[in-house]
Amino acid sequence: MSLPERVQLIDVGPRDGLQNEKQPVPAAVKIELVHRLQDAGLKEIEVTSFVSPKWVPQMADNAEVMAGIQRQSGVRYSVLTPNLKGFEAAVLSKPDEIVVFGAASEAFSQRNINCSIAESIERFAPVVAAARAAGIRVRGAMSCTVGCPYEGDIPPERVGMLARLMKDIGVQRVDVADTIGVGTPRKVQRAIEATLVHFGLDDVSGHFHDTYGQALANTYAALEMGVWNFQSSVAGLGGCPYAKGATGNVATEDVVYLLHGLGIETDIDLERLVDAGKFISDVLGRAPGSRAATALLAKRG
Ligand code: HMG
Ligand code: MG
Repeated sequence: MSLPERVQLIDVGPRDGLQNEKQPVPAAVKIELVHRLQDAGLKEIEVTSFVSPKWVPQMADNAEVMAGIQRQSGVRYSVLTPNLKGFEAAVLSKPDEIVVFGAASEAFSQRNINCSIAESIERFAPVVAAARAAGIRVRGAMSCTVGCPYEGDIPPERVGMLARLMKDIGVQRVDVADTIGVGTPRKVQRAIEATLVHFGLDDVSGHFHDTYGQALANTYAALEMGVWNFQSSVAGLGGCPYAKGATGNVATEDVVYLLHGLGIETDIDLERLVDAGKFISDVLGRAPGSRAATALLAKRG
């Protein structure tokens, strides 16, 4: 199959990227990061999550961040909602899309959202129904589709099972997530294949953490299958608090460099994206975790 002509990136930096930061990041900084991302041309931004502030204190300012964003038309702002309580809080912030998040691994489901896979689907069902009734789009994140920090390798059948459960409750599109970045191209392709049994190509996205440095290779492997939606995190920020040792998402700058090099359109201005990554990295007191950004910043001198 030939590669897609254009790719849509969802920058998950403000959410997946920052959720694991130990130092409190002020809401104003998160808002500024969202503004810089949309100014760089991102059309989808995962802004925050409406989860328990006891579990993820960094996301406790969810409503404040959503209220502070000056929205641009044509940009989709999404938020994570694990249950009805989260959805009811989120809906006041008028997200364009909500994300329910489940796992292909039982152990990870328990650690991350404190319930089994079956229970999670029971919790998501009314959330999905309420969102769709309110005209809000619904995405489903599927964690540990290749490997789990507690269970090890995850077979593709488990991914297919989760995708089917998500489809059955009305989830419109899903993310095939390599939560701990252990995947390699063929394994990731098998997880995507299992998902494509239940969702069309336009409704499947890749979400690859870069712990073992495989995320760009995995992105290319997904592109070869025709996947054209991906999540990435500016400056490679992040990691899941319930996946010990797992590092951030693949850096958006690196994915954009790869895509533009392949002649694939993104509508993203790489230089402005690098500025956005530099902005948040400076606030966090570290260098951007993106090879492309590092190279471009060095070139600027
Ligand atoms: P629980 O303790 O089982 O929930 O947590 P509960 O219903 O028993 O409620 C316990 C307390 O939490 C109560 O408060 C509730 O009101 C409150 P208390 O009476 O003790 O004061 N509560 C909430 N508060 C605010 N917002 C809510 C909410 N729900 C309950 N929505 C729960 C279950 C899911 C809430 C909890 O486990 C949780 O918040 N987990 C956090 C999960 C998380 O954010 N993980 C990181 C994001 S997922 C990820 O990063 C993976 C992804 O990137 C893809 C990939 O890479 O794999 C998406
Ligand atoms: Mg993630």
